[in-house]
Amino acid sequence: MNISDIANTVIRGDCIEILRGLPEKSFDLIFADPPYNLQLEGELYRPNQTRVDAVDEEWDRFGSFAEYDEFTVKWLEACRRVMKDDASIWVIGSYHNIFRVGKIMQDIGFWFLNDIIWVKTNPMPNFNGVRFTNAHETMIWAKKSREQKRYRFNYQAMKTLNNDKQMRSDWEIPICSGGEREKSGVSKAHPTQKPEALLRRVILASSEPGDLVLDPFFGTGTTGAVAKKLGRNWVGIEKSAAYIEVARARIGAVSGPEDDPSLYRTPSRRDMPRVTIGNLIEHGLLREGGTLYSVNRAVSAAIAADGSLVLDGFRGSIHRAGVFAAKTRLCNGWTYWHYEQDGELKQIDDLREIYVKEVFPVENKS
Ligand SMILES: C[S@@+](CC[C@H](N)C(=O)[O-])C[C@H]1O[C@@H](n2cnc3c(N)ncnc32)[C@H](O)[C@@H]1O
Repeated sequence: MNISDIANTVIRGDCIEILRGLPEKSFDLIFADPPYNLQLEGELYRPNQTRVDAVDEEWDRFGSFAEYDEFTVKWLEACRRVMKDDASIWVIGSYHNIFRVGKIMQDIGFWFLNDIIWVKTNPMPNFNGVRFTNAHETMIWAKKSREQKRYRFNYQAMKTLNNDKQMRSDWEIPICSGGEREKSGVSKAHPTQKPEALLRRVILASSEPGDLVLDPFFGTGTTGAVAKKLGRNWVGIEKSAAYIEVARARIGAVSGPEDDPSLYRTPSRRDMPRVTIGNLIEHGLLREGGTLYSVNRAVSAAIAADGSLVLDGFRGSIHRAGVFAAKTRLCNGWTYWHYEQDGELKQIDDLREIYVKEVFPVENKS
């Protein structure tokens, strides 16, 4: 199967079989929302005796944990094979499955970048009052292997979205409801339709316009709808014909980018002019002899005239000094080191932005 022939389509079938028939290294990004294996025991009722519309579909039923694990190994391996060398994958789940899925991902060779907690601002209560309200799901964001050097992370876009503060790993987003919820008559068309806001953040964070995004458990096509809105290409795999019908109608009604394409591109650091600590010193934003700190002030370093940092007998770039101070393998010195202003610590990354704005002002083209 040629990958360009299936771009922006939903394929009906078992994702393990379909993925095995696709060319390897085809996708830039994967979002997977697999069966939860909820193992519900009996019906669930609200205090007013109305029945809770829980996930009791056949596609969520597995005979045992072993059967679920076997299925999980197979679809994850099939996904890994079709990821490009700089691709990343997101997998969402609840306490029922995410720990099993996470262990299997690590066993297969995926390397975790983050786990994101989706905090549901309007969760379903625990009607029986016998446990805590289950108010979050977890998303694992991973690359193919520990050795994989490149993956896309639109750091700056996430920071801008978050009111110019580094985006955190807890995202407060309501569950899908109201007009966004796909209906079949008066009932929900699908029990686990994800909110578009969640997918919007995932896709904006880890892909570029024109990228090819795969969702092997497509359901109502939330990934496809958001990918289309953001100018990404997508492929969905889903085994239920009824859900495919819902997804196709939904995505058909969405319009892709028709206006200025640059609005869908989120500039990354790589696209910006290169700035060094030396530039910041020359521009008076930092001074030699000054001090930089780690976020909690546990570590401090002196700024040398050539822009290197000096601490505890070590001298090197902001990144190498960060590795030395934090005792990690990799460190982004721009976000690790902070300068003090009016008693407050701020990332030196902010100074880089100030420098770029002042030294390379955007030309007024109008
Ligand atoms: C948790 S739901 C995904 C919901 C989706 N994210 C949305 O927003 O609508 C999982 C979906 O995977 C589908 N599914 C389950 N096993 C599958 C398989 N082996 N291959 C393809 N689809 C499968 C189910 O029919 C179900 O629609």
